[in-house]
Amino acid sequence: MFCRNTRPTTEAKQKEPLFANALLRFRMNLRVKIINSQPFMKGKKSKTKRKFKAVDFFCSGGGMTSGFRKAGVNVVGGIDIDLECKETYTTNNPDSKFIHADIQDLAFSRIEKELKVKRNDKKMIFIGCSPCQYWSKIQTDKTKAHETKNLLKDFQRFVDYFKPGYIVVENVPGILNRLDESPLKSFLDFLEKENYHYKYKVINASHYGVPQTRRRFLLIASRVTDKISLPLPDTKTKLPTVRNFIGNKKVFKPITAGQKDKTEFLHSSAGLSDNNLKRLLLTPHDGGTRTSWKDTDLQIPAYVGKDNSFQDIYGRMFWDKPGPTITTKVL
Ligand SMILES: C[S@@+](CC[C@H](N)C(=O)[O-])C[C@H]1O[C@@H](n2cnc3c(N)ncnc32)[C@H](O)[C@@H]1O
Repeated sequence: MFCRNTRPTTEAKQKEPLFANALLRFRMNLRVKIINSQPFMKGKKSKTKRKFKAVDFFCSGGGMTSGFRKAGVNVVGGIDIDLECKETYTTNNPDSKFIHADIQDLAFSRIEKELKVKRNDKKMIFIGCSPCQYWSKIQTDKTKAHETKNLLKDFQRFVDYFKPGYIVVENVPGILNRLDESPLKSFLDFLEKENYHYKYKVINASHYGVPQTRRRFLLIASRVTDKISLPLPDTKTKLPTVRNFIGNKKVFKPITAGQKDKTEFLHSSAGLSDNNLKRLLLTPHDGGTRTSWKDTDLQIPAYVGKDNSFQDIYGRMFWDKPGPTITTKVL
């Protein structure tokens, strides 16, 4: 996550120094426009001292880029089809170039010229977090998601041409659970054919310092070494909690419904109707759900008889547990 005030407090000791910090600061997928006018890396390791380089395909606002930069990797650039990501990306990652492009039309020569990427570079990492909406278990309209479900194949095209030393792929667990229909199967076959060693597993971001229960498929591959270890979960430290990161005692002062914060801090709140305010007041603290008011006039017709599905939609987080998975529409 980007915001300085919500950075993880715990740091697991990792065996793989290259990827450890990057994954420790696992992105939370929040689309925040400008988070901090003081980019994190100012005054930190200079680009020239960084041994490894990376290109972040599907870079969005630069969560992965930011993590890799903190781990000492020179992320030469990121690619995304959405121009709105550019300002966030470049503000937080001042030395990394944002390329606005559809990966499906992107020519190899543009990566070679604009990012100075060479083929067969053993110190190069390609990061590919292709869109996950189609593979997510969140029940939204999948029509649009259908268009992006196979973009891992386009990432593969770039890996095939450039043959970077290392590859990191992150997605939702659905891409693995539905292997028969997902592009992951042919990607794994491709890695084997091209003599990449790889390991993957589903990790939970809350074990890596993120105050959020967020399960993610993670793959690391290399054609340089067969000694690949995925970052170990931090099972010794107490899981980070909502209270550790937000709340009145932190920098987030109380605000009223509908308040808009025009500063870079973006501490805003959605507007709420009178009924929704009543619903919230009737929902108990620390894990309370909408079932508390299901037998009143406030019950929502669509949820009648569906007490067990998506309770957290009108639920309250536990102060002393990690939060639930935050979805793209959260803001
Ligand atoms: C899961 S997000 C990536 C998150 C990012 N890696 C991070 O750390 O925050 C997927 C991104 O893929 C981008 N995308 C979707 N279709 C694309 C395409 N055809 N070419 C390039 N980027 C695309 C989306 O705009 C979105 O920002």
